[in-house]
Amino acid sequence: MQSTTRFDPRISGLSQQVKTLASPQEVYFEKARDIRAEHLDGALHLYRHDDILALNKHPDVLGNGGRGGSFGHDGRLIPLEIDGPDHKKWRRLLDPMFAPKRVQRLENQIRRLAADLIENVRAAGGAEFNSGFCTPLPCQTFLGLVGAPTADLDFFLEFKEGVIHPKGDTTEEIEANMAVAGGKLLEYFDGFLKDKRKRLDEDDDVIAELLRSEVAGEPLAEFDLINILFLLMFAGLDTVTASLSCSIAWLGRNPEHRRSLVDSPELLMPAIEELLRYESPVPSGMRYPVRDIDLGDGLIIQEGEQINAFWAAANVDPTYHEDPLRVDFGRPRVGHMTFASGVHRCLGSHLARMELRIALEQVLAEIPRYEVDIDALVYDNVAVRTVTHLPVVIP
Ligand code: HEM
Repeated sequence: MQSTTRFDPRISGLSQQVKTLASPQEVYFEKARDIRAEHLDGALHLYRHDDILALNKHPDVLGNGGRGGSFGHDGRLIPLEIDGPDHKKWRRLLDPMFAPKRVQRLENQIRRLAADLIENVRAAGGAEFNSGFCTPLPCQTFLGLVGAPTADLDFFLEFKEGVIHPKGDTTEEIEANMAVAGGKLLEYFDGFLKDKRKRLDEDDDVIAELLRSEVAGEPLAEFDLINILFLLMFAGLDTVTASLSCSIAWLGRNPEHRRSLVDSPELLMPAIEELLRYESPVPSGMRYPVRDIDLGDGLIIQEGEQINAFWAAANVDPTYHEDPLRVDFGRPRVGHMTFASGVHRCLGSHLARMELRIALEQVLAEIPRYEVDIDALVYDNVAVRTVTHLPVVIP
């Protein structure tokens, strides 16, 4: 049965309950431990790893766009809000542009930028690390990769704030504010793409490649291009900043773990995966079954229900993970859902992992004894978990 009111996870009771908590993991853990599924604010919430995995794999489940555009944009964002064979077609086009080999080319450039940003912080004896490092590092890198001007970073940041963290207390207010932010981006791209088309042959970036690409023997239509870029500009700009801020804050709060990484750099990749699991920057995502689905042991999801799949709860689900509230860099099986799972699995995971690795390698090498002012940390867990105020001191 289709419920009529559109559910927005950003204003749900659960999001508001954990809004500013430093450790929402405890709330998510209790949910996954005690409750398999519950209706809250008009959406069925799923908390357990196995249920969400089965849902994401099911051919009769639509992704986030099952109920139409949700980020202040009339078109369907590609590939997030597309399902079925069309989704496959778009992923085939986009996957190679964010594949490991492709993003690997950025390694030296990211390392240089990280070193420069850290040098500024070190010279000052410390700084606000979200604005001084976690934001500029992935955002400048991403704009370079897609071929959008880094000089316009502030404009793009304002856009992504406007669609991911819109102001407003009701769905209507939120949608109106997102539409304003989205409208500005459309206006920007209108002029930008006209110019870009004139110098296509010279440029080696994602937008140039998209403009040169053909799908089913035809060049991309302008609206398809916009539906791709609109999504990329917020998916690529918010999430790595968020993950980086959470990881750096966590390592600042847990100096013995940080020291273990300084002493044993081979632990860094497992540590990144473990922190991605524990911190889960994107807490949840929406799914829409088009038929009744039997998840076993009496749990039947009904056609038309709005499902809020809680990746962050699945990541601390004690029915799947052993002792999930403990951060353990030696955990034998991390198996997290931080990048979701199934066909809508994150397109940018290779880029995100590489940026996290280089950023943390540089931080641990250059300022291994950094400290964070724990009482001053400000967490925001709505839509994307981020440490929005991250004061770092270099002793
Ligand atoms: C640590 C950083 C990141 C995290 C935690 C993350 C998380 C996620 C999650 C949970 C989804 C599934 C959304 C859903 O179905 O509801 C997703 C999808 C997506 N992500 Fe990421 N993401 C990250 C970085 C990036 C980056 C850097 C890009 C830039 C290319 C990106 C692009 C996308 C796109 C385009 C999708 C839609 C995929 C599809 O629907 O087929 N993400 N991401």
